[in-house]
Amino acid sequence: MDIRVDLYEYQARDLFERRGVPVLRGLVARTPEEAAAAMEQLGTPVVVVKAQVKTGGRGKAGGVKLARNPQEAADRAREILGLDIKGHVVEQVMVAEGADIAEEYYFSLLLDRASRTYLAMCSVEGGMDIETLAEERPEALARIPVDPRTGIDWAKADEIVAAAGFAEEDRRRVARVLGTLGRVFIDEDATLVEVNPLVKTKQGDILALDGKVTLDDNARFRHPEHAAFEDASSADPLEARAQEKGLNYVKLDGSVGVIGNGAGLVMSTLDVVAKAGEDLPGTPRPANFLDIGGGASAQVMANGLEIILSDPQVESVFVNVFGGITACNEVANGIVAAMKMLGERATKPLVVRLDGNAVEIGRQILHEFDHPLVTVVDTMDHAARRAAELASAASSSEDPQNQTEQKGA
Ligand SMILES: Nc1ncnc2c1ncn2[C@@H]1O[C@H](COP(=O)(O)OP(=O)(O)OP(=O)(O)O)[C@@H](O)[C@H]1O
Ligand SMILES: [Mg+2]
Repeated sequence: MDIRVDLYEYQARDLFERRGVPVLRGLVARTPEEAAAAMEQLGTPVVVVKAQVKTGGRGKAGGVKLARNPQEAADRAREILGLDIKGHVVEQVMVAEGADIAEEYYFSLLLDRASRTYLAMCSVEGGMDIETLAEERPEALARIPVDPRTGIDWAKADEIVAAAGFAEEDRRRVARVLGTLGRVFIDEDATLVEVNPLVKTKQGDILALDGKVTLDDNARFRHPEHAAFEDASSADPLEARAQEKGLNYVKLDGSVGVIGNGAGLVMSTLDVVAKAGEDLPGTPRPANFLDIGGGASAQVMANGLEIILSDPQVESVFVNVFGGITACNEVANGIVAAMKMLGERATKPLVVRLDGNAVEIGRQILHEFDHPLVTVVDTMDHAARRAAELASAASSSEDPQNQTEQKGA
């Protein structure tokens, strides 16, 4: 499973600066006072106060504003801090030097999984909503495949700027910046580097005014320095806790918790649960992805259950295990130990389906454990159905409207 690390704009700016991409100075502020101080420190006549949230369209949402003195910087920061931009609350702003913009361009380089190559996209019409441009006038957005082995060399950069329609006199300078951005992409193991807008200033400089960078978590071992970019606060709190415990957990928004061993089995478990819940009241859906891996110990099972049960949306849990190297008896012992460790924190029903190596002994162990919250069901389909029914029943008994209806009936 790949986990993406999206950078904040100010982190992308810092990274660009270290790597030689031309950027303007920018400082992070968490309060209006800090924003005023940042402007004083920058010492420029104009700054732009920019919301730092990991979503697009900040400008349109009122999250990018000019200021001409420190007092104004503080006022703009006060307006922007606390704004909700597409569900992301602004907790910090970047106070950036103001640029004298002559033209705004668009550039991105991304990993194109479908064609197994990198893809550069570039347009002389940047700054605006690039999705709209791509849809309404696709010819205005050049799409050039980039060979991962060569990256953006001079020849490739020339090809991109020509296809994007840059004026002859700007091509060399833009091409140089694209080459540098290409090296950032490869050297940092990014899956996306997007600059919107890339600008030409009235003085003729080419600058990256906004940067969006996604790093490939699979390459984490090559970049211990990237750990500084991961912020637990913007990730889901349960995902952050799961990561601390080394669990492969992804929060979803349903009510049936799912634990399985092996990513493939867990993926198909999600499908089966969603299908089982389709025609039930409240249409229960999977609450998470959690793969406890091959050699799942009791401790791992307990950690996994604890994370899932901490999700207030969860109404039932489906444990779906195919015994292999770790046989079903060990898994069953893991469940027993986990339930004992959790004690009163285990409050939701568990539906367990075991199959594979030592399945009979595993089922026997759970049968003897005879815990009121644990039900063993033989097949994956039946178990999914059972877990979905339990979640459905729990959610409809909580729904006041439903209760009145039941009373009336
Ligand atoms: N440092 C700056 N100086 C002058 N103008 C700026 C500066 N930064 C941004 N702008 C202007 O504000 C516009 C929006 O800024 P930016 O691209 O950073 O935010 P956005 O595009 O709204 O956010 P997102 O890229 O998240 O959708 C730019 O197109 C540019 O015209
Ligand atoms: Mg932008």
